[in-house]
Amino acid sequence: MARRKKIYEGKAKILYEGPEPGTMVQYFKDDATAFNAEKKATIDGKGVLNNRLSEYFMKGLTQIGIPNHFIKRINMREQLIRSAEIIPLEVIVRNFAAGSLSKRLGMAEGTALPRPIVEFCLKDDALGDPLVSEEHIIAFGWANQQDLDDMIALALRVNDFMSGIMMAVGIKLVDFKIEIGRVWENDFHRLIVADEISPDSCRLWDIETGQKLDKDVFRRDLGNLADAYTEVARRLGVLPSNVTHTTKPTLIN
Ligand code: TMP
Repeated sequence: MARRKKIYEGKAKILYEGPEPGTMVQYFKDDATAFNAEKKATIDGKGVLNNRLSEYFMKGLTQIGIPNHFIKRINMREQLIRSAEIIPLEVIVRNFAAGSLSKRLGMAEGTALPRPIVEFCLKDDALGDPLVSEEHIIAFGWANQQDLDDMIALALRVNDFMSGIMMAVGIKLVDFKIEIGRVWENDFHRLIVADEISPDSCRLWDIETGQKLDKDVFRRDLGNLADAYTEVARRLGVLPSNVTHTTKPTLIN
């Protein structure tokens, strides 16, 4: 059997050519990185958990009419997705201050924001994904005004959906990042949610205890990352039956 073609390898996922034109296979690795890959580890079971969790969230988005790239899960680590032309921006929505916003504005982590705030960062590892304004986005042509309006609307709908399902299982959605892609139909394109939605790209805090259940556990050395993701999956009822991770994360760098 011919070896399938690798299209792109990122820090946490690999994209392969899909079985039909316009599709790709997205493979979830166990690798975790933080601070622009300065910190790296392999965390047993992370890829399996994120594959399941991203499937769960994307299917939910589909059910409420929010277009996204998910077609179907293929196996423990792979899902079939629609190819999309990724807009080179990370779209961040924040409900509570944390992370870079807290640092930038000197705001205590956990401070409720007056309304959800949408931010854009340019996807550029060499520059450390800098924050950019809507003016930059339009002026430099990363997206046009219509795309920008659609991206904000899409991100806020995802925020409402994700906040609701997390609240239902006792978790506060502090913030998250999504990536958005263009899908072309003749001369027109529409925008879809792409990449992944998982605890790698969200901040999730237990409502009662404030315990962190997301990638900050790894970034800030707060414990076992796979245990935190397993807890999210367990509460949502999407825990794959045969994931075990009794070992500690192994530092590979
Ligand atoms: P930040 O506070 O570090 O800017 O992160 C905001 C949100 O974006 C948080 O939920 C984590 C997520 N995020 C990513 O998914 N990828 C990244 O590279 C970074 C820096 C943050």
